Amino acid sequence: MAEYETILVEKRGRVTLVTLNRPKALNALNSQILADLLAAMADFDADDSQGCAVLTGSEKAFAAGADIKEMQGQGFAEMYASNFFAGWEDFTRTRKPVIAAVAGYALGGGCEVAMMCDFILAADTAKFGQPEIKLGVSPGMGGSQRLTRAVGKAKAMEMCLTGRMMDAEEAERAGLVSRIIPATDLVEEAVKVATAIAEMPPLAVKANKEMVNAAYETTLQQGVQFERRLFHGLFGTEDQSEGMAAFVEKRPGKWTGK
Ligand code: CAA
Repeated sequence: MAEYETILVEKRGRVTLVTLNRPKALNALNSQILADLLAAMADFDADDSQGCAVLTGSEKAFAAGADIKEMQGQGFAEMYASNFFAGWEDFTRTRKPVIAAVAGYALGGGCEVAMMCDFILAADTAKFGQPEIKLGVSPGMGGSQRLTRAVGKAKAMEMCLTGRMMDAEEAERAGLVSRIIPATDLVEEAVKVATAIAEMPPLAVKANKEMVNAAYETTLQQGVQFERRLFHGLFGTEDQSEGMAAFVEKRPGKWTGK
């Protein structure tokens, strides 16, 4: 298994557990973390033995934001020329599901990366926020867009303009996280959920992920049409024949991923 400077990667059966590992900087997201994460996600996507990933941080911080010390000295010309942060779009192109398991701070880029994942499981200690305004900037990795879609304009605007943090309960009520788990059980529970997903028919997993994500990109009518076409397409797979036969014969399905 590949070794990385800023993340730990562990395979647990069909689940890849990725742990952000810059504890001294509260997992601040620098260029090295991005490079390591993209390499790990590419390996995960290409590995047929792996069906779902969990991205987590430490007990204190999922990630306390983009690395302020790395950005501090940069001017507009450098930021624009390097298209700073554009690389994070590749993270969102991971085709298999990625679950964010968030304990502690998920601030700025940390909140944004959690929202790039397919859903967020939050420890009761989780705190979400977009405090960039206090640094004289704004979200830069999609926070103003994804947070607004997740929790609506009122809360997103308040959080971006004031930098206030949302605790796990508020985040669950607002629909930012799918559920809250006691901090001590977070990673185990996330791996359990990921294992259940990884045991589903792989083509159906990719199709379900793609169609839910399409809801953010299209009109309702186009999205419904996209869903229906993918649904029709799944009727060309061995796993559809097997899944429906297994139901009728009252036995578990055996998936080939074909
Ligand atoms: N970048 C770089 N270093 C960071 C960091 C960040 N985002 N967040 C924390 N650290 C570092 C601190 O500098 C400190 O390092 P030193 O020991 O070398 O001084 C170490 O991590 C521990 O942090 P604190 O001593 O501050 O820990 P704390 O418990 O007192 O406070 C905190 C925790 C409230 C999360 C505080 O660290 C904090 O406010 N961090 C910054 C949060 C922030 O502004 N995030 C947004 C960043 S900009 C961004 O993300 C842009 C974007 O849209 C992508």
